[in-house]
Order: sequence, then structure tokens, then C-alpha cells
Amino acid sequence: MCNCMSLHNEMANYSAEKQIALISVTNPPVNALSHHVRQGIMNGLKRAKEDPNVQAVVLCGSGRTFPAGADITEFASHLATKKPHLVEICTELDSFPKPVVAAIHGTALGGGLELCLSAHYRIASKSAKVGFPEVNIGILPGATGTQRLPRVTHLKSAIDLIVSGRQVNASEAYDLGIVDQIVDSDVVSKASEFAKSIVMRPLGPRRVSSMPVKGIEHASTIFEEARQKTIRRSRGAIAPLTCIQAIQASVEQPTFEKGVQKESELMYYLMQSGQARAQQYAFFAERSVSKWQRPNGVSYKTTKPVRVKTAAVIGAGTMGVGIAVSLISCGVKVFLTEQNQEYLNRGMEILKNIIFSGVKRNRISKSQAEKLVSLVTPVLDYGSFSHVDIVIEAVFENMDIKKKVFRKLDAVCKPSAILASNTSTLNIDEIASVTSQPDKVVGMHFFSPAHIMKLLENIYGKATSSETIATAMDLGQRMKKISVLVGNCHGFVGNRMMGPYTAEAGFLLEEGCFPQDVDQALRDFGFAMGAFQTSDLAGADIGYKIRKELGLVGPRWADERLRMGQRYSPLGDMIVEAGRLGQKTGKGWYNYGKPGGRANMRDVEVEEIIVNFSKKHDIKRRRISPQEIIERCLYSLINEGFKALEEGIAAKDEDIDIIWIYGYGWPRHMGGPMYYAKNMVGLPKVYERICHYHSIYKNSKHWIPSTLLKQMALSQSASKL
Ligand code: 3HC
Ligand code: NAI
Repeated sequence: MCNCMSLHNEMANYSAEKQIALISVTNPPVNALSHHVRQGIMNGLKRAKEDPNVQAVVLCGSGRTFPAGADITEFASHLATKKPHLVEICTELDSFPKPVVAAIHGTALGGGLELCLSAHYRIASKSAKVGFPEVNIGILPGATGTQRLPRVTHLKSAIDLIVSGRQVNASEAYDLGIVDQIVDSDVVSKASEFAKSIVMRPLGPRRVSSMPVKGIEHASTIFEEARQKTIRRSRGAIAPLTCIQAIQASVEQPTFEKGVQKESELMYYLMQSGQARAQQYAFFAERSVSKWQRPNGVSYKTTKPVRVKTAAVIGAGTMGVGIAVSLISCGVKVFLTEQNQEYLNRGMEILKNIIFSGVKRNRISKSQAEKLVSLVTPVLDYGSFSHVDIVIEAVFENMDIKKKVFRKLDAVCKPSAILASNTSTLNIDEIASVTSQPDKVVGMHFFSPAHIMKLLENIYGKATSSETIATAMDLGQRMKKISVLVGNCHGFVGNRMMGPYTAEAGFLLEEGCFPQDVDQALRDFGFAMGAFQTSDLAGADIGYKIRKELGLVGPRWADERLRMGQRYSPLGDMIVEAGRLGQKTGKGWYNYGKPGGRANMRDVEVEEIIVNFSKKHDIKRRRISPQEIIERCLYSLINEGFKALEEGIAAKDEDIDIIWIYGYGWPRHMGGPMYYAKNMVGLPKVYERICHYHSIYKNSKHWIPSTLLKQMALSQSASKL
């Protein structure tokens, strides 16, 4: 008998046919579990329970995915707490008198996976993925997930999945016991067939709430190890450790229900935290940056990119090789060129090593690696460039050399070819000025190592066309980068803001700190590394060489700058001149024991250089608090961020925040510099401290308060009155 009915006014469609009720969530694009969806599922379950013809239920998502989690946009509104709650749905599913089968396709994440684990059976399509990414948005799987997962898989695996937030594919999910069956196609029909076959089976053993937690023999050691590892990695983020606490409740609480109660308390604690709000902001900020818009109103909506198929990369050094790897990884054919055969061979060797390291790590097969390498053609002249769609230049950071390269490219490339520069600071308009088609010139600023770092800062010049921008942004996304569009100025957005940060780090040394003091304060804030560790890792000689060529190094230059009313610390130059280039020479701001060493130890030799410098320049050394270190390094860069906004170099806060999170290691749980200033510290306070430092350090331009910051701080103060 067919009691085919469906209700379409909710975001969960209900239909019933041949004893099987189908509840299909319909809330594109990711079927997030917003209030109407939750209500729809609950209504569907009620109907299925009451309908005597229905013997089993299949729960699925329509369109591209099973629900990918709670609706994050609701978190800040009353809808998040409006009944029915997800926990109630999970409880209803678990205790449902008729079998419930979850038919999983796409990504069953967060609350979506909690629904699956509350169902009695889980069938996944081959391409499905599951996971608990809540930790990435500062919370935990708070709808029974922390209590259910360790009951279907081993405790250790549950901790790993929940604390890392990683997604696993269907086959790993099957191995871990999270899904019961994998099917090749049409998961909903297969789940319906399966549901018919199990209508008479007892449900008791299938209810996850009644299962024991698995792998608890060495629970206390497992938790302790997880805690230690998490403390080392989480850099002050509170969600990862709280996730462990919630999972611990599954072992320590006397009943499943008590465990769920503890989980809810911990979820509430996280939900109320500033960190969760910051991470949720970062989630949406990350998605907003691809929606670029220029000040003239032209945007991603109105501009179609050109599909890049072939490219040329000029310079096979540190950046060129990484850029070439990124390009071939998304199927673009690359011509790689260098100054001479020796450098070209060296670049190709490094490129092959990078690709084949993926084989060693079982990420790709040998034949895939060979295929990728075959996409690169090493060449010594520009003859083959006449047909490429884009050229990305990554030669030395020197305007004359870059201009020479662009002149040559202009002569050989087809008129529609885009000419991009990976310059980290230089003026894109000046580079474009030597070409006949400045509309085709764009900056594509990759970060090192270019094949690993996710950030791509794309820079438009005065003449850059919208199509050129759209193509650079699109190519970035194809390379799996987060592309942010910014305007043209010295250092663009990221490196421009980095200027005050590194300058203040240097001044702090002159006034009383040692590198380890500054770095410790920055690490305590949440950066993976401090300013001096980063400099040692990157090698200080490259920047030094560039500055030296321009005559901008050393104490004489520092005096000159002071005369010009701009303070400069020559300590960094002095460290390089002492042969301390960083990790590669075994010594930099720290001592690494041997060239290439990783463990940084404080070095009295460096401390002597610093103390002698202070003495020589009559700078009275003093004890500087971590708070002052943070304010001077970070508020100065925040001030610069406001200036970039005010000048239209950055279009919105989100662009700056994502650049800093992905390019410079700003801790995600601190939202990004602009978010941090506005929401975690408050603009009136930031502005007051900037004015304070400006009154002391008049000879540092970066302390001149941004006009925009001033206006916003004043209006934030006024709105609080
Ligand atoms: N809530 C609200 N909106 C969401 C969302 C969510 N959970 N997940 C994605 N979206 C939105 C995105 O903002 C984007 O909107 P836009 O088009 O306006 O920019 C749109 O959906 C598409 O998302 P993506 O661009 O990210 O699409 P992808 O195909 O690249 O990725 C995805 C899909 C893997 C599902 C990815 O969106 C994702 O990881 N989403 C977040 C998943 C998540 O964190 N789930 C847990 C939520 S918290 C929870 O469930 C709490 C529970 O335990 C109680
Ligand atoms: P690098 O010194 O490692 O590589 C530059 C390569 O370009 C060298 O191998 C050199 O032989 C080659 N080269 C020079 N002139 C050439 C020419 N006319 N034709 C062909 N090849 C030529 O330098 P790196 O670090 O790769 O930097 C390259 C560019 O990327 C610079 O503009 C730099 O500012 C920028 N950049 C560097 C970053 C870094 O962290 N190293 C980060 C982001 C951008």
C-alpha cells in the first residue's frame, strides 16, 4: 500500500511509501540545521511514529549533502535556542520505536553527524565525508556528539576526530565503526531497501546511548596524553581542551544522560566565550574574501574569469618552484625558466623532491607524481611563452630586474596573456608601466612556502582590468588558496602592516627586552612563533641584501632616519653582519647549536650586542611588561590596518583579518587584528593606547593615529554612553 504524502512547507520534506518514511532535509546550500529544519525533522518523526503503515524511517539530505551541521548564522540570535533543540531531535531519534537509517552523502558534519549517530544505522555513499569541525568555530559537538562518538569508535579515535576537527572519508569512517555500510550509488534507495530488510530486528543493541564507551582500558593515560598534546598545539584556544573534557564525561559520568548534561554545560561555556564568536566570525570572513569588489563598484558578480590552462613561471627560486607546484597541482601546464641551466636544474630538482615527497607520505601515487612533474617544461628562453594564458614572475625583489622581465614578456606574450608579479612590496603600477597592456598586469603575492601556504594576496593596480582580477582570484581558488584582493601600495596589506610590528619588536630590544621576551609574549597571545623566531626561520639575509642594495642598512641609516623624524633600529642589520643569518647558519637571534638546528636557545652573545647598543645610544633599559610588548607590536599593526582601510587599499575588515590569520599566523581564536581591536579589546581602548604611544614615540610614524580609527573609536565610545 502506498501512503505517499509529502509536506513541502518545511525545510525537511516528509514522504512515506511502502512502509518507509523518508525525511529529507532541504535547506540549500549545505542543509544547515536551522530552526525550520529542526522543526521539520521533528514533525516528520512525529508523523512517522503515528502512521501505522510506516515501519522504518530514512533520514537524508537533498541536493549536494547530508546536513553539514547546525546553522552557524543562527548562533548569535534567539533561533539557536528556539525549540526543538538538536539534542531533543537526537534523543527522539535514538529512542525512536521504529528503525531509523541515516543515508549519508556529501558532508555529514557537526550536528549532521550527531543526527547520524543518533539514528540506528548509518549507510554512506562512497564519496561521503563525516566529521566534527566544531572545534574550528570555537565550540564542541554539543548535541550529544561527544557522548556518542566514543561509543561507536575507539575513545582514542573519538578524541582525535573531535579535537582535530578533521573530516574522514567513507572508507575511514567505516574502519572506525562510524558508518555501517558503504554503497556505490543512490544511497537513499539503498538505505530504503536496507530499512525494509530490518524492520523486525530488535533495536535495543542499535541505540548508541545504551552502548558502552569503547577502548576505556587506559582511559586516564589516553586523556592525559591528549591533554598534553593539545596544550602544546592549541596556543591558548580553549575549545580543544574543553572538547577533551566533554569526551571525558562519556567515561566518567554514571549514565549517558549525565554525560550529555555535562556536555551541554561545557557547550554553554564555549558558546559564551569571546573565542567562539571570533572563530565563527573567521569562518564567514574566510568565505567573504572571494566576494571581491573594487572601489568603482565592479565586483565578482559582474566579471567572468578566463580559464587558465597554461602558465609560465619566471625564476625557479624559493617562490617560483612553490608557485609552479601550486599551478600543476590544479592541472595547469607550466613553463619554468631561470637565468641559467644550473639554476634551472636546481629548481627542477627541488620541484621533483616536493612532488615525490607526496608519494613518500602516501598522499599521491608514483604515477600521479610523474604525471604532475610532466606538466612542467623547463626552458631557458621565452620562446614558448607566446601561447601561455598567464605568466607569474618570481625573480629577485628588484624593480629594475622586474621591469626588464616585464618588457620582455610584453614583447613575446599573446595580447590576452595576464602578466603577474609575485613581488612582496614593489609598486604594481610601476611594473605595469613598462608594458603595452597595463590592464593585464596584476600582483599575485604568494606566501612562503608557496605550495603550502593557503594565502594569496592579489593586488590590482590603477589600470588592472576586472577580468584580470577575476582570473587571478579564480586561479587562486583553483590552487586551493584563499585569495584576497587588495589595492596597490608599498607592502600591500600584509607586509605593510608587518612593518610596524617588526619595527616595534626591534625598538623593544633597544629599550629593555631580549628576543625571547618579545617572542614569549607573542606566543602567549597565540602566535605559533614570535617575531624573532620567524625571522630566524626565514633567514634574515634576504631582506638585508635588498636593503643594502638600496643603501638602507646600518647605524648610519638609523641616524639618517632619525633626522628625517622616523626611528629605525639597526639591530637586525647588526645581527646579520655578525654572520647570524638564522637557523640555516645555526645562529640568528637565537642559538640553534648547529646549522639547520631547530631548537632555539637564548644567546648571551646576542644579548651583549643588544645591551651594548642600548648603552652606546644612552637608552636606559627597563623592565617591559608582556602587555606593553603586545600593545606595541599589535596595536601598531592594527593602526596600520585602519590606515589601509581608510585609503581603500583594503576593502573590508575581513580581508585584513584573513590575510593575517592565513599569512602571518594571527591566532584564529583572536579573530584577526581588526576583529580583535573592535570586539575583543574595544576601539576606544586601542585608540587611547595608540595615542599614548604616539605621545612617547613621536619619531615613529606608525603611531600617528589613523583618522578612521579615531572616528570609529569616538563613535563606539559615544554609543556606550
Ligand atoms: N551554517 C550556516 N551557513 C553555512 C554553514 C553552516 N553550518 N556551512 C556552510 N555555510 C554557508 C557558507 O557560509 C557559504 O555561504 P555563502 O555561499 O553565502 O558564502 C555556503 O554555505 C557554502 O559553504 P562553502 O562555501 O563553505 O561551501 P563548500 O562546498 O566549500 O564547503 C562545507 C561545504 C564543507 C559544508 C563547509 O561549508 C563547512 O565546513 N561548513 C561548516 C561545517 C560546520 O562547521 N559544521 C558544524 C556546525 S556547528 C554544529 O553543528 C554544532 C552542533 O554540534 C550542535
Ligand atoms: P630567490 O632568490 O629564492 O629566487 C629568485 C630566482 O629568480 C633566483 O633563482 C634567480 O636566479 C631567478 N632570477 C633572477 N633574475 C631572473 C631572470 N631575469 N630570469 C629568470 N630568473 C631569474 O627569491 P624568492 O624568495 O623566490 O623571491 C622571489 C620573489 O618573490 C621576490 O619578488 C620576493 O620579494 C617575492 N616573495 C618572496 C617571499 C619569500 O618568503 N621568499 C614571499 C613572497 C614573495
